Amino acid sequence: MKKTLFFAVLFLSMNSHAADLQRLESESRQAIAEFSSQLKSKLRQGMQQGGPVAAIQVCHAAASAISERISRQYGWKIARTSLKVRNPGNAPDPWERKVLETFEARKAGGEPAQQLSHSEIIEQNGQKNFRYLQAIPTGEICLACHGKNIDPALQAELDRLYPDDQARGFTVGDLRGAFSITRSID
Ligand code: HEC
Repeated sequence: MKKTLFFAVLFLSMNSHAADLQRLESESRQAIAEFSSQLKSKLRQGMQQGGPVAAIQVCHAAASAISERISRQYGWKIARTSLKVRNPGNAPDPWERKVLETFEARKAGGEPAQQLSHSEIIEQNGQKNFRYLQAIPTGEICLACHGKNIDPALQAELDRLYPDDQARGFTVGDLRGAFSITRSID
């Protein structure tokens, strides 16, 4: 009898843990959808108004402004990262690097880049964090600035602003990077 009760409690707590994780994941996906659509519309607008050279500044300023706003709105940290960064400030931390490497392996195993995501609860120095990474696939519109044949004027401007730029040479469907969410939980 005692044993049955023990397993019932264990089962319930496992289920509620899974439900928590599911809720955290779906909230993360929603915040990322907002971030991504706001960024894309700014990018498109910038490209149409001033061409890609001018849009570099839009992408730089808009990405940090939007990420700060959404981070404040939700009270989490939301950012972009990649194994090949343009802005060294976006370089992955060890956990992000490890997950990005598993994304590359999963993609090589046949999973489409747009479906790759991973979440985990990590405890460090007594602090529990929910961490979520969602892949960003390379689309057609990205190639002007991240592709193989970048216009020479644009290339010169990228060289000037990002002397250590690694974010070039991508093709459609490649894993460009990921959105990363860190959320402290009690
Ligand atoms: C107009 C040029 C331009 C276009 C088009 C563009 N990007 Fe970028 N991208 C940049 C610049 C500039 C940065 C560096 C931003 C910064 O300084 O934070 C960047 C940074 C990034 C980063 C953050 C990691 C890193 O490398 O620093 C990701 C992820 C990214 N871009 C994905 C994309 C995707 C996906 C698309 C297509 C939907 C795209 N970009 C289209 C210029 C562009």
